[in-house]
Amino acid sequence: MKVLVTGGAGYIGSHTCVALLEAGFEIAVIDNLDNSSYEAIERVEELTGKKIPFYKESILDKAALESVFEVEKPDAVIHFAALKAVGESVRKPLEYYHTNVFGTISLLETMRKYDVKRLVYSSSATVYSSVKEMPVNEQSFAYVTTNPYGWTKIMCEQIIRDTCHADPALSVALLRYFNPVGAHPSGRIGEDPAGIPNNLMPYIAQVASGKLQKLSVYGNDYPTPDGTGVRDYIHVCDLADGHVLALRKIADGQGVYTYNLGSGKGTSVLEMLHAFEKASGREIPYVIAPRRAGDIAEVYADPSLAEKELGFKTKRDVFDMCKDLWNWQSHNPNGYTK
Ligand code: UFG
Repeated sequence: MKVLVTGGAGYIGSHTCVALLEAGFEIAVIDNLDNSSYEAIERVEELTGKKIPFYKESILDKAALESVFEVEKPDAVIHFAALKAVGESVRKPLEYYHTNVFGTISLLETMRKYDVKRLVYSSSATVYSSVKEMPVNEQSFAYVTTNPYGWTKIMCEQIIRDTCHADPALSVALLRYFNPVGAHPSGRIGEDPAGIPNNLMPYIAQVASGKLQKLSVYGNDYPTPDGTGVRDYIHVCDLADGHVLALRKIADGQGVYTYNLGSGKGTSVLEMLHAFEKASGREIPYVIAPRRAGDIAEVYADPSLAEKELGFKTKRDVFDMCKDLWNWQSHNPNGYTK
């Protein structure tokens, strides 16, 4: 089966490319490299020993996208390409709606034109941000979120559901990711955020490597065991494996399947910080700062549906996440910039 991966040079995309190639899938990648680097693709090639057809194009460019479908004739698409920073989405809502929503529509139209019926879509646990009862299962979905990025995920999920309703031959997996962290154990690919990281683990990694001075812990007065925010962290390689399982599921399925990809375990900010200290052997200085606007106290998955229907179960724990992140960070202190 040939899989077209949109956004395949990005953090989750590049790890998924490795997992797909190792599982025997053929792939091609389209990525505009706005927030990623071609070097990630070269390193995936180096890790797998396989050459990847690559197109530096935007999915918003319909003519370019069509010519990729024309040449590659994919059997399935995994759609990662999107903007993903919550805070930035509040400042630039139109850019987010344009790229994420139009991008998905452009892709669906092109799939229709070339009769491609299988899609795996990158959704997010952000669709659960108004849910109070933990853990969240796929039915907890509430059509409410706190920011434009989250709305683009809710909207795209709905656009995809409606498209599947209109074309029953479509077979789609909507994957709701919890908090992906860590890196490939080789240390060759990993997360390479532009500028100062917004997310907890890349920030901690840069404190450990001396690029940043100290972590600000956003709030220690949440109703959680130690007062800091609780999330469901998932090793990016487990997440990548989840895509392979989802592709197999939709290969001979029909309709829309929605799955949480998380570990089912909540871990606090301070627990993550201490786990990273242990894995790296470095002390991470921190201060307690006010809560960050839009944050919630806790969110973690009920991952049982993915386990039952896909055979998905996370294999790597918080220590593995920290160890592999530190391996990546210490060998690539400036990310992919040589
Ligand atoms: N945090 C800090 N200091 C920091 C950064 C984060 O204390 O410098 C805390 C946050 O307050 C939160 C936890 O660390 O409690 C995790 O924060 P992240 O920014 O790493 O992740 P979020 O859970 O806020 O958001 C992530 C993705 C979103 C996605 C969401 C889904 O960034 O895209 O998970 O749950 F929508």
